Amino acid sequence: MSTNKIIPLKVETRPAVVPLAAGESKCDAGRYHVYSIDDARRLFGGRKIYLWGAGQKGRGFWQALNRCGFTVESFIDSSPEMLTKSFMGVGTISPDNFFALPDVRDNAFVLTASVDIKNKVMFEELQRHGFERGVSFENIQTLSPFYPTIEVTGLCNLRCSSCIRSDKSLIEDGNYMSYEDYEKVITKMVGEIPFVYLVDLYVFGEPMLNKDLPRMIRLNNRLGLASGMSTNLYSIKHLKAVLDEFPAQIRVSLSGASEATYDVTHTGGKWSKLEKHLQTLAELVSERGHRTIVEVYYHLYQHNQHEIGVIKDLCARYGFRFHPSLAVLFSDFALQYSRDGTLPDSAKVANELTLIAMDRLLQDCRDHADLNCILTRIVPVINWDLSVMPCCNYTYSKIAPNYLDVPLAELIRERTHSSVCANCQSHALHRWNNQGFYSDFVARIVAENTQPALDEAAAD
Ligand SMILES: C[S@@+](CC[C@H](N)C(=O)[O-])C[C@H]1O[C@@H](n2cnc3c(N)ncnc32)[C@H](O)[C@@H]1O
Ligand code: SF4
Ligand code: SF4
Repeated sequence: MSTNKIIPLKVETRPAVVPLAAGESKCDAGRYHVYSIDDARRLFGGRKIYLWGAGQKGRGFWQALNRCGFTVESFIDSSPEMLTKSFMGVGTISPDNFFALPDVRDNAFVLTASVDIKNKVMFEELQRHGFERGVSFENIQTLSPFYPTIEVTGLCNLRCSSCIRSDKSLIEDGNYMSYEDYEKVITKMVGEIPFVYLVDLYVFGEPMLNKDLPRMIRLNNRLGLASGMSTNLYSIKHLKAVLDEFPAQIRVSLSGASEATYDVTHTGGKWSKLEKHLQTLAELVSERGHRTIVEVYYHLYQHNQHEIGVIKDLCARYGFRFHPSLAVLFSDFALQYSRDGTLPDSAKVANELTLIAMDRLLQDCRDHADLNCILTRIVPVINWDLSVMPCCNYTYSKIAPNYLDVPLAELIRERTHSSVCANCQSHALHRWNNQGFYSDFVARIVAENTQPALDEAAAD
């Protein structure tokens, strides 16, 4: 096994605090305008609406538009696979055919619905054909700028070393959000963010433990909301019922692919059990026509990088997406370490195994301290007991006791100037766990650890 741990920087003194100007905040979500239905009506100006991107985001946003009383003329997509498909009776045309439509610039309003890089290409193409942003096209994120997160379960069945749940003494066990409370939360949310199209259903808990999860997904589907889920898949008691509701996507978190590695960082787990659960998941998804996308989120550490190939093969076999990520310790631990150089014993196992040392990760954050918080758009963050948290990265602190009683704009103001955010920013941790920044590093680790297998195959 190669060790890619980056040599820690020499740290003479700590903590290295980043000074903040009085009243300054790097996580002010108040600068984003939430579109009302009337705002959208004015923006579209009675023109035919086209959604560019017929994938998960486009389909999700189709549902939000439908909920708000708008009709989509057609999807635009260049992928041959998408061109043959319709969704809810709405067909797809290619970009070339769209731009060839008569008087298209006067008659059409385009909403782009893709990931950042692809959106940029779409913007350029639209501008080349005389479309103007804010006049005849817009990105869906402009209409719905926030990504709400709801902790449906304040409990977990594992004790991952990197996670604040690594030691029972660090965090109190919570409870389950009831379906009735969830319905009230979603009803308020849809009223306050009319074009919301995605809700994440986890923070520091294991969502699959909540028996009401299937009903919550059903409600989301009925309202036109995609349900974001991340699970350790260690309990599959409710899995069948969840899949019967056809959630758009499920993320499975893993940090090893053998008895020797899995439970080192997924503490308390057994690989043989997880392996069976992955197979069951594959069978259930397949029986339901692969309508749910499964993503395996593989946390890369020193001790499990040699098993990347095993997980990639498993993903290929089961039709899952492979998503490698850089394993880091959770923000509470990073903050403690940045303050006084210590860590709880339970977190030391993971800290010893990260591919990039904590000191270096903190230095990277400080190098980017002047940039905005990467979680600015993650609001509101609602706990299982309906209290509202400033952030999905720090354990259960409160900015309001009950989400149902406080308007969104007030919650955003509270968050912007909360002491949790101020402390976090003074250690530059608003740039912590910036996976995008490490994507080239992760790609290199994946290539290095899968290349030998390819070389051997070529030699055979
Ligand atoms: C605290 S978990 C809660 C959801 C669920 N229990 C799970 O583990 O998927 C939230 C997210 O943190 C991610 N995560 C856990 N440990 C991590 C680590 N060491 N590095 C990066 N992400 C991690 C998980 O993959 C998951 O998507
Ligand atoms: S990362 Fe997820 S599975 Fe692991 S202890 Fe934390 S909440 Fe549980
Ligand atoms: S606490 Fe969370 S939201 Fe606030 S600045 Fe830090 S990362 Fe951003």
